Amino acid sequence: MQLQDILYSQGFGHRRVCLGLVQQGYVTVAGQPVDDPFQHYEPQGLQFTVEGVPWAYHEKAYLVLHKPAGYECSQKPGAWPSIYTLLPAPLRQRPNKGLTPGVQAIGRLDQDTTGMLLLTDDGAFIHRMSSPKKHVAKVYEVGTADPVDDQQVQKLLAGVVLDDDPKPVRAAACEATGSHSLRLTLLEGKYHQVKRMLAAVGNRVTALHRSRIGAMALPADLLPGQWRWLDAAQLSAVAESTKIAPVSGPPPAGPVR
Ligand code: URA
Repeated sequence: MQLQDILYSQGFGHRRVCLGLVQQGYVTVAGQPVDDPFQHYEPQGLQFTVEGVPWAYHEKAYLVLHKPAGYECSQKPGAWPSIYTLLPAPLRQRPNKGLTPGVQAIGRLDQDTTGMLLLTDDGAFIHRMSSPKKHVAKVYEVGTADPVDDQQVQKLLAGVVLDDDPKPVRAAACEATGSHSLRLTLLEGKYHQVKRMLAAVGNRVTALHRSRIGAMALPADLLPGQWRWLDAAQLSAVAESTKIAPVSGPPPAGPVR
């Protein structure tokens, strides 16, 4: 694949921009400056820099982001900054045949919720991960205003009725983790689901953090606001949660940012 096409595929701008980046000496491959935009490379596993920023070729992008409080998951947020501003421009610009450019979050968290978000430009993967039929487990650590008692836990496990749906929603798992905290596992992702479920049992959420999606936990060393490529094992863990394969197969290992 030509170097200019590799840069284009990774989101470094229109082809003409990518051509210019190489010709003007802003690109190195394997530590060496390159000035021929038409030079061919095997893209899989290719490491390069653009204006000094290291990048690893990924045919499809699969990422985990530790969402901080105070960010909206929308591309066009209202009052708060968008989570997409936490990502470098190439991840927001990657061309995506006929679809919105760049990576998209798989599901949303509220502005004040923290924790694990997955993002990808693999539309089929988003679709399957979000399908209610796949029952991907999401684990939430919940802080509450009032003490958590066994009756509340039992009600959350048995199922509570939310205002917009007569069918009860139940937690797949629920345990008190402190006097004012609990861990809740949900298999679906309705609007404000955790907050509404806690309200339905007479309590109120004061803090909400998503710690796990399927078989993958939020990495302990990924700080709020940081993102990372999923390595092959993490991607398999997430895909295994839904018994599906990612479209392009595992990415090269290594958290190059
Ligand atoms: N449930 C909520 O109420 N809010 C979230 O952000 C996620 C789940």
